[in-house]
Amino acid sequence: MLDSIRALVYICLTWPSSATIPDRCDGIEFDAITPDEQGKQLFFKDGFLWKGFRGPAQRVAESFSGIGHVDAAFRMHREDRTEDHDHVYLFQDEMVFRYFNQTLQDGFPKKVEQEFPGVPCHLDAAVECPKGECSADSVLFFKGSEVHHYDVATQTVKKKEWPEVPPCTSVLRWMEHYYCFQGNNFTRFHPVTGLVVGAYPKDARAYFMTCPNFGHGSGDHKLPLCSEVKLDAITSDDAGKTYFFTGPSYMRLDTSRDGKHAFPVTRMWPEVAGGVDAVFSYQDKMYFIKGDQVFIYLSGAHYSLIEGYPKTLQEELGVQGPVDAAFACPGDHTAHIIQGDQMKDVDLSATPRTVTKATTLRHAKVDSALCGPDGLKLFVGSSYYEYTATSELGAGQVERMPSPITPSMMACRRD
Ligand SMILES: *[C@@H]1O[C@H](CO)[C@@H](O)[C@H](O)[C@H]1NC(C)=O
Ligand SMILES: *[C@@H]1O[C@H](CO)[C@@H](O)[C@H](O)[C@H]1NC(C)=O
Repeated sequence: MLDSIRALVYICLTWPSSATIPDRCDGIEFDAITPDEQGKQLFFKDGFLWKGFRGPAQRVAESFSGIGHVDAAFRMHREDRTEDHDHVYLFQDEMVFRYFNQTLQDGFPKKVEQEFPGVPCHLDAAVECPKGECSADSVLFFKGSEVHHYDVATQTVKKKEWPEVPPCTSVLRWMEHYYCFQGNNFTRFHPVTGLVVGAYPKDARAYFMTCPNFGHGSGDHKLPLCSEVKLDAITSDDAGKTYFFTGPSYMRLDTSRDGKHAFPVTRMWPEVAGGVDAVFSYQDKMYFIKGDQVFIYLSGAHYSLIEGYPKTLQEELGVQGPVDAAFACPGDHTAHIIQGDQMKDVDLSATPRTVTKATTLRHAKVDSALCGPDGLKLFVGSSYYEYTATSELGAGQVERMPSPITPSMMACRRD
């Protein structure tokens, strides 16, 4: 008798035993996925929670008080309202809970329709879609085969059916990409059109977690040595999105809290296959230079190639290819085109485009160049040189010391 009481007490004190904690390598279906305010991806399942792409599960209640199982979750993107921005919303049945820094906010939980008019309860999944990826700051709510596209500023809802996207049980947004999870599978989709491009579904265990016998695991692939990095092109647009290009891959650099990851260039800019020579941004456009051709894309909810492009470099910019690097400084109408030790300035506000100035540089060869609010960087191999103005680039100017590319700038490892 005493033994059985002891056994019972023991079971109660240690519940849940390790056997009841789900293992995400078993091929489970997540209830919800969202990043927290630090950018760590949270995976929810049956009252348990994983923080990040690796590590064991813990109880949801240890981090989020007042809630057990979670149907759907998202992190609000709303830079115009700091009282909402980066807050984490968790949904359970008819209710929505709002947290910041893992603290339940006053007035919550609330009924879903009180906080998000027109959005159904008992949701399957939710995901933020910031302006730039959607046409305005939005949330996509998923229920069955329906997608409710919610504009956070106007609180209007548009209902959509996306035949290519399977019913999502959770949705992960990671580095501007959107992944619909169904069981242990996922399908990448476009958040505006609902189109699916590529071979899906794929098994999440090979991508978003580290599981024995499954693929590389996210972010776990072999990174190049920083000393071997070579940037073919780099650019930063007016919205502050910074991309670098190397061979057939690109990487976004300004989303540090999501980590850094390389994707195929053709995923974002399908017409530019097989690498680029130089890229620069001017107003709401991105100019890709490849051989003697220029591809101009309009930046918006997604990048779209402007009709009539590619055109020849001569026709568009009044120079002959090939080009090593190109940049335009924010607010300026000049494209600086670098070829060997020559830099040609082209006035982008004049037609036809002609070279207005040529400078002999103090560098014999430049791989890529970036001009931003904090100055000018010329990349040469795995090093870069910093300048404050284009007038400092001439051959007669003071010599600069190179700085090495570091792991904090882009995903590479130290030697
Ligand atoms: C978050 O909460 C912890 C303790 O709960 C507190 O120490 C910390 O200052 C809070 N951080 C912010 C940014 O509010
Ligand atoms: C996941 O995808 C595989 C391959 O397409 C399929 O056989 C399997 O049934 C899918 N599982 C779920 C839960 O959708």
